[in-house]
Parts: sequence; C-alpha cells; structure tokens
Amino acid sequence: MSKAKLAVFASGTGSNYDAIIEATQNGKLDAEVVLLVCDKPNAKVLDKARVNQTPLFVFDPKQYASKEMFEAKIVEVLQEKEIDWIILAGYMRLIGNTLLAPFEGKIINIHPSLLPAFPGLDAVGQAFTAGVKVSGVTIHYVDSGMDTGKIIAQDAVHIKEGMTQEDLQQAIQRVEHKLYPETIQQLILKGE
Ligand code: GRF
Repeated sequence: MSKAKLAVFASGTGSNYDAIIEATQNGKLDAEVVLLVCDKPNAKVLDKARVNQTPLFVFDPKQYASKEMFEAKIVEVLQEKEIDWIILAGYMRLIGNTLLAPFEGKIINIHPSLLPAFPGLDAVGQAFTAGVKVSGVTIHYVDSGMDTGKIIAQDAVHIKEGMTQEDLQQAIQRVEHKLYPETIQQLILKGE
C-alpha cells in the first residue's frame, strides 16, 4: 500500500511540522509530508521545510481578493498532489467552506489546551492566568468553528507549583510533538 500523503499547514515556528517529519523518517509514522502550506512568507517553518526539501505552497492572503479565492487555489494544489490528510500545525486561520467541503473529515488540528477549555488564541496563557492545575493538548477534526470539531485525542499536562508560563509552554510542546505523530498514525491505520 502506498504511504498516506500529508499536507501540513503552518504559520509560525514549525516545531510540530518538524516532529511529524522526524516521525516519518524514523518509521513511527507511515506517511509522507508532500506539501507545506504557509500563509506567512517570512515564517520560520519555511526554513525548516527548505532544509527537508518539502514542496511549498506559500501565499500572501493580501494578494487575493477574498478567502474563497486563496482557498480555491489551495484546493487546486492539494488535489494535484492527491493529498489524503490536511494537518493543521499552528495555521492561524479559520478554514472556510471552500477548503472544508472537499476535505471534510480529513482535516485535523492540534490545540494547546484540553478543549473545550481555552479555545482560540494564546490557550497556554489563558490556562496559566486562570490558574488551572491541569491543562494539556487536544487533537480534533476541523469544522467551521474555532477549535470546535470532534475530539480525537487528548493528553494532560499538570501545572505544578512554581511552574512559569514558559515552563508550561515547553511541557505542552513536548506532549504535542509525541501525540500528533502518534494520532496521525492511528488515523491512517484506521483508514478513516
Ligand atoms: C502549537 O502549540 C499548536 O498547538 C498551536 O500552534 C502551535 C504551533 O507551534 N495550534 P509550532 O509552530 O508547531 O511550533
């Protein structure tokens, strides 16, 4: 059977992109990252993708008349590459219907909290400020809402006395880098 083809979408640093690439290289994830989609022409993730020679689709939303227009272009590229799964990894945009409809049930996202707690921006800061004792990571299917799709996997991170927000951020990212490749592998095996 041929390997599942993944498109990773990212806007920022790309540490999850890196973790997924590593898992494809060390045999923990039976898939191939055949495309990185990025909406920020200066994002750090692009340097990582160039090192790994991942094909890129980089776009500047301001160059398009509407979200429908740039999403239609993305769909064209995804279909050309016969993408099986869209993996959102710090992609800072809501997915619109133009992209959602043809890939419904095949788009997943990672969020740095135990959803439905702390959706949206700065989830780690929100959890830290709220003073919760447990936060964590959620992987979910993407729907048209903000971090609202059906939950696939979660893992908890305990916030111990004396932990700073930076410590929490790092602890959550460590969990993300393990949980995301593992969850993608489970989905591929299930053939969902
Ligand atoms: C991660 O914390 C993820 O949960 C959130 O965005 C962040 C992306 O980090 N959706 P990175 O760019 O993968 O380092």
